[in-house]
Amino acid sequence: MTQTTLPSPAAAPLATPHPIPVPHIAAIAFPALPMMPEENGAPAASVTRLNLNESATPPSPKALAAAQAALEAAHRYPDHHALALTTEITARTGVARDRIVLGNGSGELLVQSALVALSAGDAAVMPSPTFPTCGKGVQMAGARIINVPLRADGANDVPAMLAALTPDTRLFYLCTPNNPTGGLLNAADVAQAIAEVPDSCLLVIDEAYHEFAAQEGGDAVLPMLAARKGPWVITRTFSKAYCLAGLRIGYALVSDPGLAAGFARLRHNFNVSRPSLAAALAALQDDAHVAQSIARTVQERQRLAAALAPHCAQILPSFANFLTVRLHQPAAPIVAALQAGGIAVQYLGWPDTQGAIRISIGDAAESDRLLAALIAAVAA
Ligand SMILES: Cc1ncc(COP(=O)(O)O)c(C=O)c1O
Repeated sequence: MTQTTLPSPAAAPLATPHPIPVPHIAAIAFPALPMMPEENGAPAASVTRLNLNESATPPSPKALAAAQAALEAAHRYPDHHALALTTEITARTGVARDRIVLGNGSGELLVQSALVALSAGDAAVMPSPTFPTCGKGVQMAGARIINVPLRADGANDVPAMLAALTPDTRLFYLCTPNNPTGGLLNAADVAQAIAEVPDSCLLVIDEAYHEFAAQEGGDAVLPMLAARKGPWVITRTFSKAYCLAGLRIGYALVSDPGLAAGFARLRHNFNVSRPSLAAALAALQDDAHVAQSIARTVQERQRLAAALAPHCAQILPSFANFLTVRLHQPAAPIVAALQAGGIAVQYLGWPDTQGAIRISIGDAAESDRLLAALIAAVAA
């Protein structure tokens, strides 16, 4: 009698090699966040943080009190439907609750915008450089990015972006004011995008700095979108003018309930915490505090721009809580010198090999520290 030997499982060849992470995830290009030192649960005083476009103004005391009160019920999951907050957003925007989506920061909603619109192999038209998170979502979807250079003033170049559309483009991303340059789109550009981005394409408008732009006479984008037949999303955040970056909460206003339902499928349960929901509602209702946060930022930005002007080749017009400057020399060594002196700013490899520096608006003492260090580094 013959005996059959079974092959050992370890020796069996894999049917199909399957690298993990899968190639389109391994290929995701996304700038790494810098390591920022912390001390006792707060940012360390040893570093002046002018690199993340945070607010220098602390949160509204009413928002802090609301978050504190909400902590009492921290053993219960938050209201996933965010009835109180979305009702207030409806009252302020006119957008019905079934067209509002909440995110763990607006960054989460930018990723979802890409995932809801794109299949593998599709394309997304984006300005370059811009805030990278929507582009990260594009890569997560296995789609490709068509980068279109900014205008020289740092705003998105809408006609050039429209000219870059391909038949397989399913997402068109605008950022106004644009991060990292601060440039704002005017009504004519927005109207052209609304009219000419095909209905087969999701028009995403990132308004993280909306409240600053609105205060400075920027055109209101939301009412213009009534003219669009195709799908659209506006993303906004509580991280900037509302001074709640650490609580991670943002919202999207979308064209129709069906699109909102698509976002809901992607959304993790209870993705926004109880204290964040409570603080955001109180911050939204504290009109005096947000007005003060914007006014302080704009005043300090103007003061800093005036003081920097003699030392810079160009200061880009900014409608947000940061300034982007070009020097008469390469920016990278200056950024490194500032970093060595405990001042964090953001280097940009734009618009040429000399690069540029994005400086978030801090308080007066932080601006003075930055000014002194930058003047010394430029002269060295
Ligand atoms: C243009 C833009 N969009 C979105 C975000 C994301 O903000 P958050 O996720 O804190 O809402 C930022 C943050 O800097 C930004 O600059």
